[in-house]
Amino acid sequence: MRSTTLSLLSALGLTAQLSAATYSLEEDYATSNFFEKFTFYTEADPTAGFVDYVSESTAKTDGLISENSSSVYMGVDYTNVASSSGRKSVRITSNSAYTHGLFILDLEHMPGGICGTWPAFWLLGSDWPYNGEIDIIEGVNLQTTNDMTLHTSENCTISADSGFTGTLSTDNCYIYAADQSSNAGCGIDATNTDTYGTGFNANGGGVYATEWTSEAISIYFFARGSIPSDITDGSPKPASWGTPLAKYKGSCDIDEHFSGMQIIFDTTFCGDWAGAVWSTSTCASKASTCTDYVQNNPSAFKEAYWTVNSLKVYKSDTDATSDAKASATTKKETNTTVTSTKVVHSTATATATEKVQGHQHRRAHGHGRE
Ligand SMILES: *[C@@H]1O[C@H](CO)[C@@H](O)[C@H](O)[C@H]1NC(C)=O
Ligand SMILES: *[C@@H]1O[C@H](CO)[C@@H](O)[C@H](O)[C@H]1NC(C)=O
Ligand SMILES: *[C@@H]1O[C@H](CO)[C@@H](O)[C@H](O)[C@H]1NC(C)=O
Repeated sequence: MRSTTLSLLSALGLTAQLSAATYSLEEDYATSNFFEKFTFYTEADPTAGFVDYVSESTAKTDGLISENSSSVYMGVDYTNVASSSGRKSVRITSNSAYTHGLFILDLEHMPGGICGTWPAFWLLGSDWPYNGEIDIIEGVNLQTTNDMTLHTSENCTISADSGFTGTLSTDNCYIYAADQSSNAGCGIDATNTDTYGTGFNANGGGVYATEWTSEAISIYFFARGSIPSDITDGSPKPASWGTPLAKYKGSCDIDEHFSGMQIIFDTTFCGDWAGAVWSTSTCASKASTCTDYVQNNPSAFKEAYWTVNSLKVYKSDTDATSDAKASATTKKETNTTVTSTKVVHSTATATATEKVQGHQHRRAHGHGRE
C-alpha cells in the first residue's frame, strides 16, 4: 500500500513537492522596531566573560546600538579603557520563542576575528540543556571559520553522513557525553573563511539560514553575491538550496531535545572559551592575559560589531508544531517529560582537554545552572 502510493506519487512527480515545505513569514525583525522585539540581558555573563552587558538605554546613550532604514548596528565600547567589571557590550534575547521554523539572518558585518572576542548568534531553550541550544554563528579570537554546535541532554548524537559541507568535530550533543570534553556538544565546523570574522566582513557578510524541523536542524550559509533569489524575494525554499553547511540528524529525537527557543545575539570577551585558550593562541603575544588586553585596548574593538540587514522567521505551512510562537513570559514548556532525566550538574568547565583555539572547550551560554 505504502510503496504503491509512493510510486504513484513519484510517477506523478509529487514526492519532491510533498517533502518540500512551503514557508511563510511568521515574524519580521524589521530595522524600524528591531530592538522592541528583544530584551536586553544585563546580568553577569554565564560564560564568565570580561563583559558588562548594558541596558537598552545605556546602549543607546553610549552609541552601542543604532538603526536606520537599511540596517541595525550592535557594537561594543571601543573608546574607553574598561572598568574592572568588563568591556561594555550587548546581549539581547528575542521576546518570542519558537518551536521549529526557518530563521534567516542577513548580516553585513559581524564581530569576530579579533583577539579577546567571542561573539555568537544562537537559539536557546529554557531550562538548559533540556530544551536545547543551537549555536549558529560562533567563534573566538582570531578564528577564521564558523563553528556550529548543538548542546542537549542525554541521547542525541548526530550522523557524519547526513550531507553537509562542514567538518564534524564531535558527534554527541549531550553536554556530559563521556568521551568528549565537558559541554563540547555536537560540533560542525565550516571550512571556508567567508563564513566568519575578517573573511566574512571583507566579503560584505552573507545569509545564515537555519531550518529546524522534527527531522533535522540544518544551517545554510550564502556569501554575499550568492544569496538565492527565493530568499531575497521573501519566499524561501530550503529544498532548492543544495547541501547545507551543517546538518544535525541522527540518533536524536529532535522534538524531545529542542523546543521553545529564543534568538540571542551577544558579543562577550575572554571567559570560558576566548579567555581559556588565550595563552595557547597567537593572541598571547599581545598581552599576558585576555582581560588585560580587552580592558586596555579599546580601539582594538571598533570592528566588533554586528550589522543586521534583516532577520526573519518563517514557519512551514505544513508543520503542525510550527505554531509555537509565544511570548517568552507565557511559554508553555513540557517540563514533565524531562525532569526524570535530570542528572546532577557539576560545573561544566573543562580545562584539561581543550584544543588549541579550543572549539571543544566551551560551556553553553545558557542561563542558570552552569
Ligand atoms: C545606515 O545606512 C548606511 C547605508 O546608507 C549603512 O552603511 C550604515 O551601516 C547604516 N547605519 C546603521 C547604524 O545601521
Ligand atoms: C522544570 O522543572 C524543574 C523542577 O524539576 C524546575 O526547577 C524548572 O524551573 C522547570 N522548568 C520550566 C521551564 O518550567
Ligand atoms: C538514554 O538511552 C539509554 C539507552 O536506550 C536509556 O537507558 C536511558 O534511559 C536514556 N536516557 C534518557 C535521559 O532518556
